[in-house]
Amino acid sequence: MTSMLADPTTESPIPAAPLSADRIVLTGFMGAGKSTVGRLLAAELGWQFADVDAEVEQRYGSSISQIFLEVGEAEFRKRESAAIARVLGRRNIVIALGGGAPETLTNRLLLEQTSRTAVVLLDAPFEVLFDRCVLQEGAAVRPLLLDAQLAAERFRLRAPVYRRCAKHLVDTADQQPQQTVAAVLKLLRA
Ligand code: S3P
Repeated sequence: MTSMLADPTTESPIPAAPLSADRIVLTGFMGAGKSTVGRLLAAELGWQFADVDAEVEQRYGSSISQIFLEVGEAEFRKRESAAIARVLGRRNIVIALGGGAPETLTNRLLLEQTSRTAVVLLDAPFEVLFDRCVLQEGAAVRPLLLDAQLAAERFRLRAPVYRRCAKHLVDTADQQPQQTVAAVLKLLRA
């Protein structure tokens, strides 16, 4: 589906301005809405959607929590990088990264070096993100949220990394997912 705007003079739909990218990558901390917004955005554009966490889970037949428990975070990060490389090979795709992906240099280079790839940071204060995750899903699905203080520290350390990695930023604090989708499209069509 291609978004259309109504032309008030003729009432016929006019096609929306083309996007400047073939891949939209959503980054941000846990709870930023990367997967929810990504799925809606892909549907709006008629593009594929890939959730990097889900790609890893499918390939290894294990949940992220199990992978952390069984092989540890360092091995998870290798699996995550391989999944990112795979999904970046596709076009007309919206990709939701895991919250820690930009910390890995390989991932940052992959994102930088894949042409026509727009990286968008979905941003919000830590407290908002933490509440969203814990209230909606419980901390158990995200092993790195089990200790709130450590999670806050990770957020603080990652903030500049996200900003360096993403060319665009959308504040999601008081936004419903559909509003964030509209904001992302506006930025990428500007
Ligand atoms: C992580 C975020 C999670 C998942 C894993 C590690 C992180 O993804 O990749 O639990 O390091 O922030 P979401 O951001 O999709 O929850």
